[in-house]
Amino acid sequence: MTGSNYSSSMSFFLRTIVLLLFSISNFVSNFASLTPDLCHPDQRDFLLELKTEFKIRKPGEFYDRYGYPMNVTSYPKTESWGNSSTDCCNWDGVTCDIKSGKVIGLDLSCSCLFGPFQPNSSLFRLKHLTSLNLAYNNFTLSPIPAKFSNLMLLETLNLSGSSLKGHIPIEILQLNNMVSLDLSFSLSAPPSYYSPPQSLLFIENPSLFLRLLAQNLRNLRDLDMSYVNISSEIPHEFSYMRSLRSLHLTSCYLVGEFPSSVFMIPNLQSIILDSNPNLRGKLPVFHRNNSLQVLSIYNSSFSGIIPESIGNLKQLVSLTLSVSNFSGRIPSSLGELSNLSSLSLYGNHLTGEVPSTIGNLKQLISFDVESNQLTGNFPSALLNLTKLQSIFLSLNQFTGFLPPNIGQLSKLEILFASGNSFTGAVPSSLYLISSLTDIDLGDNQLSDLVGFRNISLLSNLQYLSLGSKRIKVSSPVDLNVFSSFKQLLGLSLSGIPISTSNITSDSDFSSNFEYLYLSGCNITEFPEFIRNQTNLYSLDMSKNSIKGQVPDWLWSLQELVDLDLSHNSLTGFDGSLKAVPGSKILTLDLRSNAFQGEIFIPYTSITYLLASSNNFTGEIPLSLCRGQVSPIIIDLSNNNFHGSIPRCLGTNISSLVDLNLRNNSLSGSIPDMFMHAYELRWIDVSHNRLDGKLPLSLTSCSALEVLNVESNKINDTFPFQLSSLQKLQVLVLRSNKFHGMLYQSDGAWFGFPQLKIIDVSHNDFFGTLPSDYFINWTAISSNEDKDTGANYIGDDNHPYGYYTSIVLMNKGVSMEMERILTVYTAIDFSGNRIHGKVPESIGLLKELHVLNLSRNAFTGHIPPSLANLTALESLDLSQNKLSGEIPPKLGDLSSLAWINVSHNQLQGSIPQGTQFQRQNCSSYEGNPWTVWSFP
Ligand SMILES: *[C@@H]1O[C@H](CO)[C@@H](O)[C@H](O)[C@H]1NC(C)=O
Ligand SMILES: *[C@@H]1O[C@H](CO)[C@@H](O)[C@H](O)[C@H]1NC(C)=O
Ligand SMILES: *[C@@H]1O[C@H](CO)[C@@H](O)[C@H](O)[C@H]1NC(C)=O
Ligand SMILES: *[C@@H]1O[C@H](CO)[C@@H](O)[C@H](O)[C@H]1NC(C)=O
Ligand SMILES: *[C@@H]1O[C@H](CO)[C@@H](O)[C@H](O)[C@H]1NC(C)=O
Ligand SMILES: *[C@@H]1O[C@H](CO)[C@@H](O)[C@H](O)[C@H]1NC(C)=O
Repeated sequence: MTGSNYSSSMSFFLRTIVLLLFSISNFVSNFASLTPDLCHPDQRDFLLELKTEFKIRKPGEFYDRYGYPMNVTSYPKTESWGNSSTDCCNWDGVTCDIKSGKVIGLDLSCSCLFGPFQPNSSLFRLKHLTSLNLAYNNFTLSPIPAKFSNLMLLETLNLSGSSLKGHIPIEILQLNNMVSLDLSFSLSAPPSYYSPPQSLLFIENPSLFLRLLAQNLRNLRDLDMSYVNISSEIPHEFSYMRSLRSLHLTSCYLVGEFPSSVFMIPNLQSIILDSNPNLRGKLPVFHRNNSLQVLSIYNSSFSGIIPESIGNLKQLVSLTLSVSNFSGRIPSSLGELSNLSSLSLYGNHLTGEVPSTIGNLKQLISFDVESNQLTGNFPSALLNLTKLQSIFLSLNQFTGFLPPNIGQLSKLEILFASGNSFTGAVPSSLYLISSLTDIDLGDNQLSDLVGFRNISLLSNLQYLSLGSKRIKVSSPVDLNVFSSFKQLLGLSLSGIPISTSNITSDSDFSSNFEYLYLSGCNITEFPEFIRNQTNLYSLDMSKNSIKGQVPDWLWSLQELVDLDLSHNSLTGFDGSLKAVPGSKILTLDLRSNAFQGEIFIPYTSITYLLASSNNFTGEIPLSLCRGQVSPIIIDLSNNNFHGSIPRCLGTNISSLVDLNLRNNSLSGSIPDMFMHAYELRWIDVSHNRLDGKLPLSLTSCSALEVLNVESNKINDTFPFQLSSLQKLQVLVLRSNKFHGMLYQSDGAWFGFPQLKIIDVSHNDFFGTLPSDYFINWTAISSNEDKDTGANYIGDDNHPYGYYTSIVLMNKGVSMEMERILTVYTAIDFSGNRIHGKVPESIGLLKELHVLNLSRNAFTGHIPPSLANLTALESLDLSQNKLSGEIPPKLGDLSSLAWINVSHNQLQGSIPQGTQFQRQNCSSYEGNPWTVWSFP
């Protein structure tokens, strides 16, 4: 599990560094204060009062737009104010007008100011201010005062990164002299790769606000509202802001269609629309008269082609069109962008070959087309680009040899080309590029690693990945080749047979790895040399044939956080089963081994515990309740754990996403422990011996998507209260002792807005269902998810690509689904004692795929509305008391592949549709048919 993430997370990290090199910083003018004895006394008093309004405190970390800590050097500028000089115009950060002695500029950025911004701050009496910079202080989540509008002469206002919270006062738009406005980066937590940013600032009535902004701030040149929660469309009025030079709107929750005319503003030099995943848009036809230097659209819903006219952006230095839906070919006109130093097109649907014109981009430093569908050979035009430092080609469909003269790229630091179909040998000239720090050629069809030993020439190499199942080596790779790589931090040889036998205690093995990925390397014993890898952070030894016990020295590797031992033949743990002091293991994957006895958890604050498909016995360890942080995934399924589910799990459940205890021997009732389970999305406790009732606190699981309690002894009525769970998609109560009605006779509102799969079969439910029973089951009635393709339930929430499976009846057989398609829908009420009519409202469930009402006591006719269920694939009405004729219209249901109406009291004839004619006789037997017509 770690191995597969390695190259993507590593490339994210590296890419960030590369991008940082090109990020264009704001030009904030610094006015030097030169003239002495100017200070106007009232101005001095206002400043001194301002000084007292804030405490001075060293700020915490500030973060950039990639979530990395920023290098902000702070010192308390106001501390020296008034100490030696009375001339306030001389004070640090203060600029006065030479004639009038009025303060016109105040730069208190990075000044350790701490505390709430007073709504009546004396700042607002410095009415001559034209330039105000308060960036990177900490105003402790206080609101932006509306009185900023008093500073009518303000041309520059920078409140970036100052922990302001609340809405941006609309009064600020009265400042119509504004030239530069920066309200970015007020964040409560750093942006992370997986979770959206925690914006503190938002805009009330955004469409009015943005229109007013465009109308009033006619002189605006620079606007940065990155990380302000705008949650709106950008109005087309933005394209009238003809003065605009830079527009930075990273992570603003923008929606709708971005007006492409904004790209055409003649003076616009920099536009950044990153991380607005719901922002749609298309690139315009670019004209020649434009000034764009930076164009960045990352993680958006922009689509369409990259227009040939992009070649008109002659000033362009950095072009980022990544993680969006761009398609088509890379236009050859890109070669005309002679100033381009960074090109990033990764994560789109681009096809075709890389045009050879990119050989003209002599300034190019970084070339990134990762994760597209590009074909053809290695783009050899790149070899002419002498400034090139990084090449990202991974995850495309490139073929052919790696160019023998790749050694020409004498400045190359990063070469990522994994996940393609490159063949042949690694060219020996690669080993001559001494600047190389990172190489990922994994998952290709490279032949034997000829000249592999020369890799030790690369004295700056830090990360090397060659792992591939498709590689053919004549003999195992001797890991001792890496013995002298003191600087090598990461190595992945996953899929390649390796030998560690040459690494002996007297060998000179001095590499000190942080990341070591040896998955599927034909290893049979735990390699001893790892004992000395004291810097090891992430170790993947999965999919080998390692037998015996996990050595106890592994736990004394104090940096080890991420350990994957899954898919081996390990049977136990060496040494005592006590938590190890100093161990920091957060991710432990022991799945699919032969472990017996009690499970061992080296560190209580484990966040991912994956231990399914072993033979663990004993009780669920209570240490899971005692961590400093809550676990995220607990998967102990397919073992032999017994005893009860520890109630104390509830004290440490706030981050738990997935609880999978399926197929063990757990007994007792499910503890009422879900009060704080706000993140919990999957609960699977099926196939145990649990009894009692379903806990009431399940209703607190507002994120719950799947609840599976199948095959236990739960003795309860139907959990109507769960219909309040807005995200519940799968509810499986199959084979328990549930009883009572499936319908609240008091007529209370009942319906599952998101429910797609419900299986209550083999219980003791009885009673009738009213004819409008299904009217609120909206997820099965409408097809909002249809166009999203093959999505799986839980996909969004498992950064580790980890899913739980589910077994469902379909077409008369039980079927295990590894992952549940979000488009899959099923209703299984079979094997109960439900009587009365089949509700007519069943006809509303247009997206229903599987319907099983068999083995009940349904009476009356088959509702003709069933003919509306055009998605239906499997229909089981057998063993009821249904009478009358099968509605002939059902013969039109072309997806219906499996039908069983046997053992009812049906009469008349069987519909003529081919689907009906194709069924086995047994599907119809046990009915008093009047017309017995079979093919
Ligand atoms: C700002 O202050 C609050 C409250 O003390 C604190 O939680 C937060 O981390 C601080 N932020 C920064 C960037 O220093
Ligand atoms: C942080 O910035 C200071 C001054 O600009 C510089 O001297 C220092 O090297 C920087 N540190 C890092 C880690 O970039
Ligand atoms: C590289 O440049 C040389 C001379 O500048 C030229 O002849 C050659 O065609 C170029 N190669 C590629 C692949 O663009
Ligand atoms: C171990 O090293 C010796 C001497 O360098 C070499 O001949 C042999 O092939 C190596 N063994 C393996 C398994 O690589
Ligand atoms: C590990 O290091 C110790 C001392 O640092 C040394 O004695 C031992 O031989 C090393 N073991 C291996 C397998 O290299
Ligand atoms: C795997 O190891 C076994 C014995 O250790 C060896 O016989 C076999 O050839 C190896 N397989 C490969 C593909 O190297």
